[in-house]
Amino acid sequence: MKVGVPKEIKNNESRVGMTPAGVLELTKKGHTVFVQTTAGEGSGFKDEDYEMAGAAILPSMEEVYAAGEMIVKVKEPIPEEYPLIREDQVVFTYFHFASDQKLTKAMIESKSVCIAYETVQNASGMLPLLTPMSEVAGRMAIQQGARYLEKPVKGKGILLGGVPGVAPGKVLVLGAGTVGIQAAKMAAGLGAHVTILDVNMDRLRYVNDIMPSHVVTEFSNEYNIRRHIKTHDLIVGGVLIAGAKAPKLITRDMLKEMQAGTVLVDVAVDQGGCIETTRPTTHQDPIYIIEDVVHYCVANMPGAVPHTSTVALTNVTLPYVLKLVDMGWEKACEKDVALRKGLNIIKGKIVYLPIAEAFGWEEAIS
Ligand SMILES: NC(=O)c1ccc[n+]([C@@H]2O[C@H](COP(=O)([O-])OP(=O)(O)OC[C@H]3O[C@@H](n4cnc5c(N)ncnc54)[C@H](O)[C@@H]3O)[C@@H](O)[C@H]2O)c1
Repeated sequence: MKVGVPKEIKNNESRVGMTPAGVLELTKKGHTVFVQTTAGEGSGFKDEDYEMAGAAILPSMEEVYAAGEMIVKVKEPIPEEYPLIREDQVVFTYFHFASDQKLTKAMIESKSVCIAYETVQNASGMLPLLTPMSEVAGRMAIQQGARYLEKPVKGKGILLGGVPGVAPGKVLVLGAGTVGIQAAKMAAGLGAHVTILDVNMDRLRYVNDIMPSHVVTEFSNEYNIRRHIKTHDLIVGGVLIAGAKAPKLITRDMLKEMQAGTVLVDVAVDQGGCIETTRPTTHQDPIYIIEDVVHYCVANMPGAVPHTSTVALTNVTLPYVLKLVDMGWEKACEKDVALRKGLNIIKGKIVYLPIAEAFGWEEAIS
């Protein structure tokens, strides 16, 4: 099969849909991969790296879209890309259709086959193509939080690990899911004292089993949250209720109870945030301060570390790409239930109910 890998053109997106390692896996099986020139540059991969792995480099996105029977990318297509997507072409990427009606209409009109990373779901209900980005964001939450605890950027002036003779900093993690566990692990690695809260006892049992003894688990409720925010230096929000807005676990009045210079990193910002005073920020302007409390609420945290994020993402997308190119999308989706759940739009028809529901178009898929 002929596969196209365009350069991402969405603002501030430096990831790429395939690494040279992925190209090699495809070309050695006889497939052809067309990569747009400089597509991998932002993630640290040169055109020469792709060529050595067997890719053909094309000078423009128009040529890549024209050459590929399947397009593999990272972000949803933006309006400049809509007219390049054609009938029967398979597009494998993050789409997030339910939040973008214009994109949904454009992909319906294109009559392409849209397989969305974010809805690929395995038998245990996990979303394997979202997990790596949560892992990146969870680990980054501590890296960023530690930085904003420094005095020159309005933090408390605390070194998370402490030093001999000085107690370490305290980190409170809300949610013991993928983000929360990675955050707790990083904080514990720095030597901080960590408290992690969840409402799911199985998650807390798991954390209790695998983490060192300076990571303490407690049940998540308002009483415990109010108690801990007074003494913790860095608070990480990593809660998720699937398909719903994040619950506001920290309300505006609670900020007054925190010490000046406390840092909040609300990773759940993309679901509305679990802190009432959260509003989305960017890597260019990542923080703001309310009641002397530093808020870091970047909605696309993995975008700051595109090399790590690209490799983490393509590690999990490549096995599906290989199935799609080897078998064709119909057979691959028939055989692989997880991949089948990624099918969102097939040749002009929405096949994933939540998208239709988001726009009140249920009758369109019946
Ligand atoms: N900002 C970013 O760049 C970025 C990147 C990746 C993920 N995220 C977001 O981070 C959030 C967490 O993602 P995840 O993959 O860790 O989800 P997850 O499903 O693995 O974990 C969420 C956890 O929250 C827990 N939870 C639910 N209600 C709770 C409550 N009241 N108190 C405490 N815990 C509660 C759940 O039991 C679960 O363990 C999501 O909103 C996700 O979209 C943001």
